[in-house]
Amino acid sequence: MTLSKSASTENHLRLHAEQQFAHELEALSQVDERQKPPNWKLSPWAVKLYLLGGTLDDGTEITAKYIGKERLIEIAIATLATDRALLLYGIPGTAKSWVSEHLAAAICGTSTLLVQGTAGTDESALRYGWNYARLLAEGPSPAALVESPMIDAMRTGRIARIEEMTRIPSEVQDALITILSEKSLPVPELNSEIQAVKGFNVIATANNRDKGVNELSSALMRRFNTVVLPVPDSFDDEIQIVQSRADQLGRALELPAEKPALEEIRRVVTIFRELRNGVTEDGKTKLKSPSATLSTAEAISVVSNGMAMSAYYGDGELKAGDMISGLTGAIVKDPVQDQLVWQEYLQTVVKERDDWKDLYRASRDFSG
Ligand SMILES: Nc1ncnc2c1ncn2[C@@H]1O[C@H](COP(=O)(O)OP(=O)(O)O)[C@@H](O)[C@H]1O
Ligand SMILES: [Mg+2]
Repeated sequence: MTLSKSASTENHLRLHAEQQFAHELEALSQVDERQKPPNWKLSPWAVKLYLLGGTLDDGTEITAKYIGKERLIEIAIATLATDRALLLYGIPGTAKSWVSEHLAAAICGTSTLLVQGTAGTDESALRYGWNYARLLAEGPSPAALVESPMIDAMRTGRIARIEEMTRIPSEVQDALITILSEKSLPVPELNSEIQAVKGFNVIATANNRDKGVNELSSALMRRFNTVVLPVPDSFDDEIQIVQSRADQLGRALELPAEKPALEEIRRVVTIFRELRNGVTEDGKTKLKSPSATLSTAEAISVVSNGMAMSAYYGDGELKAGDMISGLTGAIVKDPVQDQLVWQEYLQTVVKERDDWKDLYRASRDFSG
């Protein structure tokens, strides 16, 4: 497949982790002298540094991809060096996909051996399918076999990723059991098998909002080590996440806006946390929570949406008026219930905070 391998990556809307952070991965591999598991590009030490960030002896700055508990990342990386696969589990927007992508990029240099789990995912997405024209013309042959990303990863000793594994119908999920336990996949049509090369492993993500959709069988569960990614526990962590990601996104979209003001970010994060927790940060006022998840990922979208509004329709400096549409959109998912929750919050909290008057006014203008 050469379709997506154009020489220049400059024009691509979104770069894969291994493209966007190629310089960091290269710098890490230069200094990495620790022992690597078979076929890994970097040692577990360097993979961890890539995920959590730091400064190398030669001065290269490694940006933090994940902000949170170091231990979780260590467990995730160590798991991938064993014969068990890794399941990243948690509520939406806790960086499961993001961490999965970066782990794959750092460990094997490729984050794109990806199977997206949906209700329509069939076995051929996890195993193989056939090129029917060839199959009819030549009968079953290796050339007529259409390999899944999973097989590619097995053959080359790399990491395959499965997104939203619990959305895949249970009987299809079971195709994974053989792959993960035997590390091989029989191809009865060719009277042969595909055997995994060292370095092969799987990172799956699953969302607890999908609980009960297609529960993972216990046989499959046993092949995975589960790491639960939590919502950021501290206010400061969450602010740091939103700030660094919004800043990166703003640069990637080439927005002619200034770096988002910390004050606006603090405010979005405060609103999200208060509504999520059902109480104001000072613990004094009880609040109703809206139906939306209000994840960190959504806070990032609200801020980057605000940056676009301010860049193109404002004065380039992020203000309440640029934020209000995104904020309302993130909070009001149900036009009746959530609208009430939001109005109540505006009246009892936003209006009463002296330094939030601008936001209150913006909300009046927006709805009026
Ligand atoms: N703890 C965190 N550290 C760094 N980024 C985070 C964190 N939590 C959320 N994010 C950001 O949230 C965004 C969405 O995360 P994503 O991986 O799509 O969520 P999930 O797959 O869990 O639903 C990413 O841009 C990611 O950078
Ligand atoms: Mg995801």
